[in-house]
Parts: sequence; C-alpha cells; structure tokens
Amino acid sequence: MYRRAIAPSVLAASLLLVIPASAASSVPGAPGIGDPYYPASGNGGYDVSHYDLRLTYQPTTDLLQGTATLLATAKQDLSRFNLDFGLQVSEVRVNGLKAAFARSGTQELEVTPASPVKRDKPLTVVVKYAGKPSEFKVDGWTAWHRTPDGGVAAQEPDSAIWWFPSNDHPLDKATFDVSVNVPDGTQAISNGVLQSQTSRLGWTRYNWRSNKPQATYLATLAIGKFDITTATTANGLPIVNAYSKDLGDHAGAARASIERTGEVTEWLEGVFGPYPFNALGGYVPNVTSGYALETQTRPFYSPRQFANGANVSVVVHELAHQWYGDSVSVDGWKDIWINEGFARYAQWLWSEKEGEGTAQELADWAWSSRPAEDPFWQVKPGDPGPENQFHGAVYDRGAIALQALRNEIGDEKFFEILRGWPTAHAYGNAKVGDFVRYAEKISGKPLAQLFETWLYTPGKPAAPSPKSAAA
Ligand code: ARG
Ligand code: ZN
Repeated sequence: MYRRAIAPSVLAASLLLVIPASAASSVPGAPGIGDPYYPASGNGGYDVSHYDLRLTYQPTTDLLQGTATLLATAKQDLSRFNLDFGLQVSEVRVNGLKAAFARSGTQELEVTPASPVKRDKPLTVVVKYAGKPSEFKVDGWTAWHRTPDGGVAAQEPDSAIWWFPSNDHPLDKATFDVSVNVPDGTQAISNGVLQSQTSRLGWTRYNWRSNKPQATYLATLAIGKFDITTATTANGLPIVNAYSKDLGDHAGAARASIERTGEVTEWLEGVFGPYPFNALGGYVPNVTSGYALETQTRPFYSPRQFANGANVSVVVHELAHQWYGDSVSVDGWKDIWINEGFARYAQWLWSEKEGEGTAQELADWAWSSRPAEDPFWQVKPGDPGPENQFHGAVYDRGAIALQALRNEIGDEKFFEILRGWPTAHAYGNAKVGDFVRYAEKISGKPLAQLFETWLYTPGKPAAPSPKSAAA
C-alpha cells in the first residue's frame, strides 16, 4: 500500500525533470501503417471511426468535388499526420481550425494542425477537394473506371485515393455515410442502405449508409445510368441491385446471376453463420475490365463475368467474402489467403451442392491439372508477395489447403471452424496464423505441419486425398 501510494508521484516528479511540460513530445504520425507489402498504405498516429462524404459528380467532365469529414481519435500526441489521397485539396480543417497541408509524393497529404492534438483526443478532419479521378495516375495507372455514362471506384488493394482522403488500410475500418449528387436521370450507387434520394435544380442526391466497420478498399462508388431492382431477404434485409443500362447482350446473364443474391446468401448463412451486414446487392457497371470485387454489402461485377451465360459461382465468391474478407479482414496484405482461399472454397462447396463436382473432386482437379514444374507451385499462398497477391495459387492452392484440412479433421470439425471463425473475429482483422491456431483449438489437432506444407512451402505437395484413401 505504501509503495502504491508513493511510487507514481515519485515517478511523475522524476519524469518532469527530464521532459519539459510542453508539446515537445508531439511527433508526426507515420506516413504508412506498417504493412511491408505496401509501405505507403494507411498512416500512423490516429484511428478513423467514421467517414462522411458529401460529393458532386459530373459524368460529362469526370469532375468529382466535395467535402470529406473524418471522425478520428489521436493515438499519440500528434504534431502532424498524413492522409492517403490523390485529388486536389483546397482546404483542411482539424477540430474546426484551418490546418496547413502539403502533398508528399503522389498519394500522401501531410496535414499540420494549428496546434498539436493530444493522444486519445478527438480528431475531426474536414477536407474540401475536387479533381478528375481518371487523370490522377499512380505509376501511370488510374483505378477509376470512367464509363460512357459515369465512373466507378472498385479496386483492391487501393481505390480510395481516387475518391476520398483516408487512412487507407484494412486495419483502420470505419462506418460510412456517402452522399452523392448527380445529374437527374443518373444514379449513384454505394455500399449499405439507401437512406434517401432527393431531386432539385436538375440534380439528384443519393444518401447511402454503411453502419458496420468497413475497410476503405471495400467502399465503392458507381455513377451511371442503371436499372435498379429491389427485394427483401427472408430476414427482412433490403437487397438493391444495379445493372448498367448499357450491358448489351450480357444483361440477361448478369441478372440471372445477381438476382440470386438472396438465395446464395441464405445458403452461405448455413455454412458461415449469420450474414454480418444489414444490406445486400450487387452492381454491374459498363466497365471494360474483367474482375469482380467484394465491395461491402454490394459487390462489383464486371460485365465480362457474364460473357458465357449466368455465373452464380462469382456471386458465391463475392458474397462469401462478406464473411471472409469484409467482416473478418486481413491484418496485413500478406494475409490475403484468409480472404481468397475461403471465397474459392465456397465456390467449390456450391458446386458440390449443385451436383457439379464435389470440393474433393475440384481440389483433385486443381492439383492434378498443374504439373510439378508449373510455376504455380512456387507461389506461397500464406505469403505470396505483393506481386502475386491475386495469383491463382492464392485462390486454388489456398482452397486445396482447406480441402486438406477437411480431410485431416473431418467434416464435423471443419464446418464448425468455417462457421465459428467469422463470429470469433467479426468486424475485425486477422492473420493467417490466427486461423491456424483457431483450427487447432477447435479440432484439438496439431495442424502447423499441414499449413506449413500448403501455405508456406514452395513446390507441389502430395495430393490432398481423403484419409481413408491416403492410408
Ligand atoms: N478480391 C477480388 C476477387 O477475388 C480480387 C480483385 C483483384 N483485382 C484485380 N484488379 N484483378 O474477386
Ligand atoms: Zn476473391
């Protein structure tokens, strides 16, 4: 008791002798959050809880302008901090006062508040900006898809820097209000629930809300002329799908796939547990690129996904990510397997259910169709490197790893794990190693060797055979 009563004041007194009671301990926040794959991604020194984006977009000129308000908390005494952003900024305010700002490189904005912000204190940042996202290039490239009738932000691992200032890394998730004003007759699509839509002076404003934590790369914006369908899930959640009016002969196949979003989600709930968000849907803008992306609550689909008829498998993939990727996000980008391995495996489970080949058969096929010399086997799904982040091996070898796990521990424990993990880490972040430990805990088996072989060892492992056959 004596010690407890006296020691802190002794300590405080001695600290005062060393550190003057001034702002000298305030230091700049780091320009990156510390992800070795992408050192410039995210920033240090603060944590954002909410983004409010109030924007206007003119499709004819590609001019995007507006105001972003970030509600954040300082994580250290901050003399200065960075935002990740590429468009032109005209004013920054921090806690109400004008702040100095300067560009640092192509995609960093350094903000110096009028006075340092103390650790754990609120940091409210208002950024006024304008720019043509198609003209902002990083290494000669823009993630903004300009379409004949609008534009789209949907890209991984980065898209935010083309349309709003942020702490651009999945480690800092936040809720979002996205309000976009577009010319009458044009729609603005984003994540979550459409709160309202109002027209005046020839412009229509769409107000979208995401009320669960969302990584910045999962925030999406699409402006264009869309046909919109609405429905309600069995649990009463709103489904909003949007199809560009310009999909040509892909329109039928796109609708025949995405209109099954409610059915696929219901099936996925049986595998992964309760759907983690309060809205659903999908959208297909008239872009020329070919990929799809699990933008939160409302995945982005390229028309090319529907070139050969309905493609429910891609819908299964992007919806699986709502649990594996969106609710439970990577801790660092090297953990990409905890997204892609599982979304691919969900496609295999859907195939199994549809009678189009079991997960075991598809794993055998993915294994046997690539000879040992195929460079495919040199990519480590558990740490593929930024250049191979979306390599087929992260998906296919990553999903074979799950089939190997299923064979090792049996269906009961395997599906208990698939269902338990999204709840265990809901709305958070996780590393590959966290999954390995979770699987060991639930199964009661040592699994380090299995994951070492499938996720971290270059070369072609032995076939992932069922246990009885392997014996
Ligand atoms: N997570 C996305 C998917 O699995 C991958 C997007 C990759 N990005 C790209 N430009 N190809 O569908
Ligand atoms: Zn994916």
